[in-house]
Amino acid sequence: MIYDLGLKVMTDDYKDAYNKEIDDAIAREKNRVAGSAGAKPEKNTGVLSDIQSEVALTIHESLGIEISPDMALPPSHVGADLAYSAFEAGGKLGQNPAEAAKKIAEAVASRKNAFIENISLEGAFVNFKLRQGETYARILREATLEGERFGASRAHAGEIALIEYSSPNIAKPMSLGHLRSTILGAVLGNLYEAEGFTVIRENYLGDYGTQFGKLLYAYETWEKKDAAALSIEELKNLYVRFHEEAEKNPSLDDHARALFARLESGDPVLGSLWKQFRDISISAYAQMYKRLGVSFDIVSGEARSAKDAGKFAALCLEKGICMTDGTTGAIIVENLAGLPSFVLQKKDESSIYIGRDLVTLSSRIENFHPDYILYCVGNEQELNFRQLFALARVLDIAPEDAILKHISFGLVLGESGTKMSTRKGGGVSLEELMNEAARRAEKIIMEKNPALSEEERAKIAEDVGIGSIIWNDLKQSRTKNIRFDWESMLDFEGGSAAYIQYANARIHSIFEKLGNIPPAENPVFAEKIEFALAKKIMFFPRTIRHARETDSPHHLSIYLDELSRLFNAFYAEVSVTGTEDQNLKSSRAILLRAVSQTLENGLKILQIRAPEKM
Ligand code: ARG
Repeated sequence: MIYDLGLKVMTDDYKDAYNKEIDDAIAREKNRVAGSAGAKPEKNTGVLSDIQSEVALTIHESLGIEISPDMALPPSHVGADLAYSAFEAGGKLGQNPAEAAKKIAEAVASRKNAFIENISLEGAFVNFKLRQGETYARILREATLEGERFGASRAHAGEIALIEYSSPNIAKPMSLGHLRSTILGAVLGNLYEAEGFTVIRENYLGDYGTQFGKLLYAYETWEKKDAAALSIEELKNLYVRFHEEAEKNPSLDDHARALFARLESGDPVLGSLWKQFRDISISAYAQMYKRLGVSFDIVSGEARSAKDAGKFAALCLEKGICMTDGTTGAIIVENLAGLPSFVLQKKDESSIYIGRDLVTLSSRIENFHPDYILYCVGNEQELNFRQLFALARVLDIAPEDAILKHISFGLVLGESGTKMSTRKGGGVSLEELMNEAARRAEKIIMEKNPALSEEERAKIAEDVGIGSIIWNDLKQSRTKNIRFDWESMLDFEGGSAAYIQYANARIHSIFEKLGNIPPAENPVFAEKIEFALAKKIMFFPRTIRHARETDSPHHLSIYLDELSRLFNAFYAEVSVTGTEDQNLKSSRAILLRAVSQTLENGLKILQIRAPEKM
C-alpha cells in the first residue's frame, strides 16, 4: 500500500524541470556578471572624502606617512566640527599620539586649505573647525543633486559578491531564524550594490534529506488530497504526525528510509511528489518575500549538489585529508586546521550537509569567480562553516582571493528567554507575526491621524508594521539575540522604524505646506542645529561604506536614528514655513530635501518603505 503512489500524480520528468529552473537562472546570472566584468572602480567623492583626502595629502607630504584619514563628529561640548585621532599616525611616526597630533596640526595649519578654518588640539585628537558657510552649501548641493544615488559609490565596480540568504528547509513554514537570514542578506545585498559590487542573490533551499522519506510516507498513508492542493501548513502537519506515530511504531522509520532511498535513486513518482512539495513551499515563501520586498536571482537547493558530493569525498581520501572510519565505515576529516573532526560522507555513500555545501561552493566559484561569498546563517552553524571553509581551502576549491564569510547572527528569543520556535504546534507563524505587526501599527496610526482613508491607513500600517520587524533585526549588532517587544518596536518616540518613517513623513508634510518655492542658489543657515544636520548628512556615504565593510547594517540604522533625532530637534526649534527671510526659507527647504533624501535612501537600503504620509 505505501508504495502505491503512482495514480495520484503525473510522472513528468521532475529532475529535468528542477535542473532546468536552476540552470536557466545560473546562465542568466553568468551573462549579467560578464556584462559588468571589467567595470572600473571610481574613487569616492563627496565633501567628507575631499576634506579627509586633503588632510591625508598634507600629512603625507609634510610628515612622510600614509594614514587612513577617517574623521569623526566630535561630541558637542568640544566646539569643533570634525575630529581626527592621531593614534595611527603616532604609531607610524614612532611618537606618542599627542605629539603626532601636534605635528599634524602644525602641518595642516601651515597650508591653505579649502575647508578648514581653524585647528585645535585635545590630547591625541586634532579638532577641525570648518569654513561652515561654504561647506554647508556644498553638502546640501551634493545631497540634493545626487538624489537617489546620494550615499552610493562605484568604489567596488567590477567586483562580484554572491550573497546567499534565507535558505529555508522546504515542506515547512519558514522559521524566525530564516526570517533573520532573509532580512540580513537582502540588506547586505543592497549595501554591496550601493558600493558598486555586482551582487548575485541566491536562496539555497534545504530540499534534500531523509525527512522527505518521512513526509512521503505520511502523505501516502494519511493524506487523501492531491499533493498539488496541499498547503505548507498541511505538509508540516504530516511531518509532525509522522514523528508522533513513529514514536509508537518505530518500524515507520524503516519505511521512511526505504522511501528516501527510492527517491534518491530517481524514482519518478516519488520525485515528482517531492518536486510538488518544493513548489508549494516556494510559493508559500514568495508571499513573505513579497511583503518584505525581497527577491533572489537564483533559487537553488541542496538536492542539486547531492549527487556530486562523493567526488569530493574521494578527492579528500586521495589527498590524505580524510580517512575511512574503521568501525562506522564513514569518511571522516580529522585534524583539519585545528578543528574538531567531522564526517564528510556516510557509510552508505549518501551525502551530508557539509558535503553538499562543498559541491555548491565549487560550482559557485566555477560559474561566477566571485570576490566574495557571504553565507547568512545563524550562529548555531559557526563550526560547520569553519570546517567548510577550511576544507575548501585545502582542496583548492576556493582560491585565496575569493573571500568566504559566514555572516553569523543571534537567535530569536521568545518571552521566556529561550529560542522562539515555529516548529511543532504552538509556535508563531511568520505570517501571523507580520499581520500582528501591521495590526498594531494600524491602531497607533488611527490615533495619530484619524483623517486618513481606510485604504491609506492599511497601506501605511503595512509599511510601518513590516518596517518594525526589519528594524528590530537590524537595530543592533547582528550577533546579538533579538526579541519581539511590540511596545519598543512600534515606539514612535525613538528606536524604531516608525520613528524614522515619521520624521520623513513630517518633512513631506512641510513640503506640502511650502508648495513650490524657488531653490536657494547658495543655501545659508541661521541656527547651529541646521549646520549640525548638514554635517550629519555629510557622513551618510561614509556610514554606508562602514556598514558594508563590516557587514553590519546596524551602523546605518543607528545613523538614521541619530539623523532623525537631529531633525526633530530642528523641527522643535525652527519653523520653516514661518521663516520670513525668503533666502533663508528656501535654504531651509533645501536642507529638508537633503534630510529626507538621506532618510529615504537609507531606509531603502534597509528594506524599509518610507510613506510620505503617516
Ligand atoms: N537550510 C539550512 C538550514 O536551515 C541553511 C542553509 C545555509 N546555507 C548553506 N550553504 N549551508 O539550516
